[in-house]
Amino acid sequence: MRVIASVTNKGGDGKTKISTFIAEYFSSIRKKRVLVLDLDPQCNLSNRYLPMEDDPAAAIEQGKLPPIHPDYEPEDRSWDGRSSIADIFYGDIIYPYQTSFENLDIAPGSSDRLQAAEEVRRVDVEEKVHNQLKAFLRQDEVKSSYDIVVIDTRPSKGPLTRCAIKAATDIIIPAQMEAHSLDGIAGMLQLWMQEKISRQAHEEPINLIGILANKYEDKLSLHKENYASLEELPDIKKHLIPLKIGKRVKISEIDSDYSRTESIFNLPDSDKAKQEVLAVCEYIERRIYNHE
Ligand SMILES: Nc1ncnc2c1ncn2[C@@H]1O[C@H](COP(=O)(O)OP(=O)(O)O)[C@@H](O)[C@H]1O
Ligand SMILES: [Mg+2]
Repeated sequence: MRVIASVTNKGGDGKTKISTFIAEYFSSIRKKRVLVLDLDPQCNLSNRYLPMEDDPAAAIEQGKLPPIHPDYEPEDRSWDGRSSIADIFYGDIIYPYQTSFENLDIAPGSSDRLQAAEEVRRVDVEEKVHNQLKAFLRQDEVKSSYDIVVIDTRPSKGPLTRCAIKAATDIIIPAQMEAHSLDGIAGMLQLWMQEKISRQAHEEPINLIGILANKYEDKLSLHKENYASLEELPDIKKHLIPLKIGKRVKISEIDSDYSRTESIFNLPDSDKAKQEVLAVCEYIERRIYNHE
């Protein structure tokens, strides 16, 4: 089972988009059994695949709750019928939801519960947050049910992102060629390096798939210059994915809205956006299985 996390510490770089591309590529095109996990309290990824509900009691703005699980029996008093990946921080069992996509399940986010994990005290964070996802994914039932797990994260280097990196076998860093995004790359590489060093010999090493230029605009000299400046830094250049995803209307149109969910892979083969995304997904597949 490969566990792919999409991470950056800046918002808007395309973490959630890339997570959906990877998830839908492996489930729809490659027919693998995929589980997506939403570790972002904003729950954008969950909104794409499930009719998430507003949580009026949430401390964070526009907080979301997962819908009642289809397998829930109202007589069952052992849980409230909503299952989120944040339940791993409370020792609860996780019941993934099926999505309308074939071979694609989700353990959605729950805004308040995820936010609470982000605020755990420093002395407790290692035990209560950092290692919980890794433990969940090590369960035989999970390992035998899925081939690929895709984790979407929030823009930060906080406990939830740490938790995703600790659980991952592979990470991808999407980045816009804008100053604020570039500043974050070094920090993410550092987190990857720390994790790489701390993995024990018996554990799966953590593989960096690479840095992916997203929302790239050929016609913008700023983007070209920023890309060129990354290529001048040997420690970054070696991790640049030799492909880019352009800023494309088709990609922003297919957005996180459950009511009109369609996949980029349903677009005609002649579509530029689909071609770019497909090339990136095929590259990712080679990198996670061959480490080439
Ligand atoms: N290649 C792209 N072309 C056009 N719009 C994009 C592209 N990638 C992402 N977006 C849009 O940019 C916004 C931020 O992307 P998102 O994946 O939500 O970023 P993050 O999860 O890192 O905050 C979204 O509205 C998304 O639709
Ligand atoms: Mg996001």
